[in-house]
Amino acid sequence: MASRLGEKLPERQFSTASAGWGSAYDDRTMLLTEIDHVAIAVHDLERAISFYETAFGASVVHREVVERDGVEEALIKVADSYVQLTAATHDDSPVAKFLAKRGEGIHHIGYRVDDCAAAVESMVAAGATPIDTEPRPGSRGTTVAFIHPKGAFGTLIELVQE
Ligand code: CO
Repeated sequence: MASRLGEKLPERQFSTASAGWGSAYDDRTMLLTEIDHVAIAVHDLERAISFYETAFGASVVHREVVERDGVEEALIKVADSYVQLTAATHDDSPVAKFLAKRGEGIHHIGYRVDDCAAAVESMVAAGATPIDTEPRPGSRGTTVAFIHPKGAFGTLIELVQE
């Protein structure tokens, strides 16, 4: 949208009423409370940490090996969210396969919710396909469930309940 600063845009561009938005969802509670984390798959965790330290003055607030998922994570806090640098701990972990196929980059988005099971149920009702049908333990003592990118606009989603 090419608009100069201070230039008044036509009224209709800001109007939601005429677009018919919201009506079906007005009485629903928004389930997402925060972007919990953005997970970035990297080959070399130490190099990625060092990059974030150098570029941003960032420091790692939590580091954890999650054997079940075959990953080692380093969390960098940004306001009330995290950047989660994620490396594979073995060659046949899903993250290792992702790295082999797609290279380094954004792996998934973690959405923070108050009730993981309810959020899974709501996503499934909306047409999404769960990877975890039941919430399970995640890192940092959280409860999580992953939702398949197919059916979620190509984005691997992790629902995170603290
Ligand atoms: Co995650």
